[in-house]
Amino acid sequence: MALKLDLTGMFAAAGSDGAPCREAFAAALPRAAEVRAAHLAAPPAWRQLPGQRRHLEACRARAAELRARGDFDALVVLGIGGSALGNAAMVAALAPAYQEWAPAEGQPRVFLLDSIDPDWIGDFLEAVPVERCHFNVISKSGGTIETSSEFLLFYDAVRRAVGSDQAARQRFTVTTDPAGGHFRALCDELGFATLEVPAGVGGRFSVLSPVGLFTAEMAGLDAEGLLAGAARVNQKLAECAPEEDAALAYALAHVLHMEQGRPIHVHFPYGHRLRLLADWYKQLWAESLGKRFDTQGDEVNVGPTPVKAVGPTDQHSQVQLYAEGPDDKVYTLVKLGRHSREIAIPEPFAASPAFEYLRGQTLNQLIDAERQGTEVALLEAGRPLCTIELCKLDAFHVGQYFAFFEIATAYAGGLLGVDPFDQPGVENGKKAALALMGCAGYEALAASIRASQASREPFTLEC
Ligand code: PA5
Repeated sequence: MALKLDLTGMFAAAGSDGAPCREAFAAALPRAAEVRAAHLAAPPAWRQLPGQRRHLEACRARAAELRARGDFDALVVLGIGGSALGNAAMVAALAPAYQEWAPAEGQPRVFLLDSIDPDWIGDFLEAVPVERCHFNVISKSGGTIETSSEFLLFYDAVRRAVGSDQAARQRFTVTTDPAGGHFRALCDELGFATLEVPAGVGGRFSVLSPVGLFTAEMAGLDAEGLLAGAARVNQKLAECAPEEDAALAYALAHVLHMEQGRPIHVHFPYGHRLRLLADWYKQLWAESLGKRFDTQGDEVNVGPTPVKAVGPTDQHSQVQLYAEGPDDKVYTLVKLGRHSREIAIPEPFAASPAFEYLRGQTLNQLIDAERQGTEVALLEAGRPLCTIELCKLDAFHVGQYFAFFEIATAYAGGLLGVDPFDQPGVENGKKAALALMGCAGYEALAASIRASQASREPFTLEC
């Protein structure tokens, strides 16, 4: 029932090849322990989510009400960034691999629409009958342009399909800030059912709030197990000594490697159902740690670049670069102790010697051998790597994984001296898009963007 972190491959024998050695790690630990102590003295709101049953109960009650009504056979999640990636990771890991078109018995199909690409959305509208969908609209701010547009589009489509505003509203649940934002005001005024993104919980730290729990309840996933796994990590990492804190060790080792010129952090799950965990991690690590200013207000332009790779697929795409290209990366292999299924490799060509080595073996043995192969290739090339092991693929371990990386991210932010919980760079992009779409109040920004675009000397080519 544990999440295991193996950092052996993160340290050079004696720091000889430029990687930090264990002594450097030990020397930096007191500084890291201070960061941890400050975090534990005032734990952020997201760290308290696993112990709060009221959110789970609200999601469960809403899901039960909707199931009893029985007017949907697909759940459509509308949201972006932190309002989508945790959901996507959780569903990919815990629901059947082909959830979109072959869900588990008695469960809805689940679609996550985290883009406003007109071709994709248009195809969806043509392929899926909206009157048989329930829409989970998620936006903490209630002002994100992509989610707002999707809300308008799908509400309009549903209203036309079901014939009235009253019937259309029943097909939506809106997860948003408990007090502020456009969605809150609209939902309160028009009577949409809502769930809350609790105060103080930012998007990328919200998967264990109703943002993820409602989807889990609707999709028949084990929301309780998710919270139990996260609670266990929270508790263990709060009670242990700093030198035994796996999240602190993970954060510190990565920061030390950054200081040694390895700012690229490759997240490499071995398992197709784990692949979207890497997307969730990428956002968490990038948006939390990539900052222009430190907490003192000094310009630092700091941050790691997270990269997603999925094993074994990317062995045939990325590992050549990883083993022989620049030594500017740190690798986290994510390993499953036990897959949910065991699949034997059959012997239809038993008379041929070509595949003799596969006789009597399983896909499970093969994927593990491939992971070990990557590990050997990277370690022999002197590349730093660590392994996170989820003992098995269930909600408890996925909950552990979420909690572990949220805590590690908070610690890495502290070690880098930045605020891991804001995202001013994203906000600037959001404001620019609002300005360009003609939103009132952004006229001056729109004019300055247009002036700057016009002042650029064009350099375009065609072929
Ligand atoms: O982590 C974050 O805060 C962001 O990625 C947000 O989740 C994302 O921008 C969507 O914001 P909102 O939930 O307000 O629509």
